[in-house]
Amino acid sequence: MAKAKTFSCSACGASFNKWSGRCDACGEWNTIVEEAPLSAGPAAKSLGAMRGAAIQLTDLATQETPPPRTNSGMEELDRVLGGGLVPASAILVGGDPGIGKSTLLLQAAARFAQAGLKTVYISGEEASAQVRMRAQRLGLTDAPVQLGAETNLRDILTTLDAEKPQLAIIDSIQTMWADNVESAPGSVAQVRAAAHELTTFAKRKGMSVVLVGHVTKEGQIAGPRVVEHMVDTVLYFEGERGHQFRILRAVKNRFGPADEIGVFEMTGEGLAQVTNPSALFLSERGEPTPGSVVFAGVEGTRPVLVEFQALVAPTPQANPRRTVVGWDSARLAMILAVLEARCGIPFTGLDVYLNVAGGLKISEPAADLAVAAALLSAREDVALPADTVLFGEISLSGALRPVGQTENRLKEAQKLGFTTAIAPSGGKQGGAGGMTLRQFGDLTAFVGEIFGAG
Ligand code: TYD
Ligand code: MG
Repeated sequence: MAKAKTFSCSACGASFNKWSGRCDACGEWNTIVEEAPLSAGPAAKSLGAMRGAAIQLTDLATQETPPPRTNSGMEELDRVLGGGLVPASAILVGGDPGIGKSTLLLQAAARFAQAGLKTVYISGEEASAQVRMRAQRLGLTDAPVQLGAETNLRDILTTLDAEKPQLAIIDSIQTMWADNVESAPGSVAQVRAAAHELTTFAKRKGMSVVLVGHVTKEGQIAGPRVVEHMVDTVLYFEGERGHQFRILRAVKNRFGPADEIGVFEMTGEGLAQVTNPSALFLSERGEPTPGSVVFAGVEGTRPVLVEFQALVAPTPQANPRRTVVGWDSARLAMILAVLEARCGIPFTGLDVYLNVAGGLKISEPAADLAVAAALLSAREDVALPADTVLFGEISLSGALRPVGQTENRLKEAQKLGFTTAIAPSGGKQGGAGGMTLRQFGDLTAFVGEIFGAG
């Protein structure tokens, strides 16, 4: 009997029984690959027909003391982890190749080892000598980290079982190879099996494990999303290759708030922490320029000021360009539609470019008002005063909706020398400190007052 072929998506791990060009589950193109069929065991019997071992049940009142966490001393990392490393936790660190994952984790390994955790760093990509050279360059050679260069998962687990570290770093999960799975390293089946083995081993032995995962665009290697659901914490390391800023973002965390970010700067001596990201993100701002506005945002528990830059230019094209870096393009389309429908300001025949300076990705709806202001400022060629920040959500009706953490935003803006904030009416009043708060109920009122149009 011919075995049915199976296919899975290397981006999200979804399984299918036929090939297609686009994954129905996550929408990625060219990520569906054929999987070696799982070896069929003895004729499958209903599980209920066989007797298993009884599991122990407990009631909800069972007292568990919160786990003792270990701080690395890198505050930007500890905060993103939810306040340090939890014992026996599984963490995924995903990111583009070359973004700095190995650098970050070698530095973290050194700090955790110095903080007293027995730490093992397994590299499947580089020889030990290469990792040692990097450690030397980063000034970490004194840290008591144990190094291994291996891809055979069986040998790695045997070693971990003997050494009993409290923290193991696996760089990367895509290079790991489980010899009981008939599939090439990097395939969905291998990555899934290796991640499963490592996370269950970690839980059983009380060891924390960090899996490094490369984000890939092609379907040949499985992406980190395949293992996201197996781990407690998912962190993504983001940034533009040409820029020096790097953002470590928690997208899932069983032990802390998601959406928390840590900000780093890539230097000649590795990653340096950025404790005042607002100052850094605004450091390249010069004279007030049309199209440039400052958004008072919040990332996780921390206020962050960032600059939105817009460029609006006439085009003979029937379909003008809408190019966005660092923000959601669907959200941009919505803001453009609201400006046209509610304020009578069309962008037909105009190319629109929108950019978040510094390589940060913003996902807060609170940025709507700043985006609208950047677009109008660029279109009308009118610069906003340099001492002004904006925040507020825009609804389809053109109303401005209050957003959370107003006080936090105002405080941060004041700290950085801003004097005026433009915000939605309602929401929290007062608490503005020395800031002048200019509030508007809808976009039309804002446009009329600030740009004298609408
Ligand atoms: P790396 O950590 O190897 O990236 P990843 O593991 O995500 O693939 O970092 C690679 C880049 O970082 C490389 O292009 C060089 C740069 N880098 C520095 O700028 N400074 C440093 O101190 C180090 C170690 C790397
Ligand atoms: Mg690497």
